[in-house]
Amino acid sequence: MKLLVLNGPNLNMLGKREPEIYGNQSLEEINVDLAHYAAEKGIDLTFAQSNHEGALIDQLQEAVGQFDGVIFNPGGYTHTSVALRDAISSIPVPVIEVHLSNVFAREDFRHFSYLSGVCLGKITGFGENSYKLAIEAFELRK
Ligand code: DQA
Repeated sequence: MKLLVLNGPNLNMLGKREPEIYGNQSLEEINVDLAHYAAEKGIDLTFAQSNHEGALIDQLQEAVGQFDGVIFNPGGYTHTSVALRDAISSIPVPVIEVHLSNVFAREDFRHFSYLSGVCLGKITGFGENSYKLAIEAFELRK
């Protein structure tokens, strides 16, 4: 199984950005850990991050035929982007929405996601383990 782990805006700042919310690990460290975790299960991960909405849309469109699923942390675009919702709706590849923080325990504007309704499911609040739980969800679905 091949999965794309796609991270949106400001997630390149992990480790430096609000560590009390998002933890001390950099995105690179998280990704190395995830790659090992997945490899033990025979799952192949590819990683991408962009701060740009259009680039994320390109990544989702290009996932068709290449990946069996996408693990997507859309960052702040979660709460603003009709265009990302449309991109997810447009592709047959299943997408799981993930968040490091528990968005429901935070500001009201983070409680709403444009994307959840067109995703396979949503995992929120488990730090780096949110990504691992999404890997598990894809594995259980096989
Ligand atoms: C986030 C939650 C979003 O509300 C926020 O804008 C982020 C990170 C998370 O992983 O907890 O950038 O997606």
